[in-house]
Amino acid sequence: MKVLISSEEIQQRVAELAARIVGDYAEEPITIVGVLTGSLMFLADLVRRLESPVRIGLIQASSYRGTATEPGQLEIGPELLPDLRGRHVLLLDDILDTGQTLSYLVEHVKRLEPASLKVAVLLRKMGRQITPLQPDYCGFEIPDRFVVGYGLDFNDQYRNLPFVGVLDG
Ligand code: IMP
Ligand code: MG
Repeated sequence: MKVLISSEEIQQRVAELAARIVGDYAEEPITIVGVLTGSLMFLADLVRRLESPVRIGLIQASSYRGTATEPGQLEIGPELLPDLRGRHVLLLDDILDTGQTLSYLVEHVKRLEPASLKVAVLLRKMGRQITPLQPDYCGFEIPDRFVVGYGLDFNDQYRNLPFVGVLDG
């Protein structure tokens, strides 16, 4: 497997994003909502670098099954969410690909009446977005390749890799 983004590069970039987030939110409490399962590593590393008061929630929206690149039915698991009303919510995902998952979740979370809503992604695939969505925070822009590691999976494998690698390369 070819390493696309090393563990050191990820850690450095996550620290930069955390510093920006802390600056942007000042002392306001943030509710981080991680999209399961891919955002777990990003979430764990990011929240440990945030000095603002933080709540953590999780939401499930699986649009991919195994190798499929066609989005399927989106399933949401709202029972893992704390009350988001009046909260400053930062929705966190591993990768912005077509944008369908995050757009869907953004609409869902908006209906829960947060005080504000922003989106952070670790990766953004170039030339893939079909649903317009500008992430407020983005770690890395990557070419249109299938990547695994640091939360991202292929058939639920490779999520534990500390780096992001290209599987088909
Ligand atoms: P979107 O709805 O097309 O933006 O897809 C977002 C979801 O697809 C992400 O949360 C990932 O779970 C998955 N995904 C998209 N591209 C990749 C990839 O290259 N590797 C692993 N998962 C991916
Ligand atoms: Mg995912």
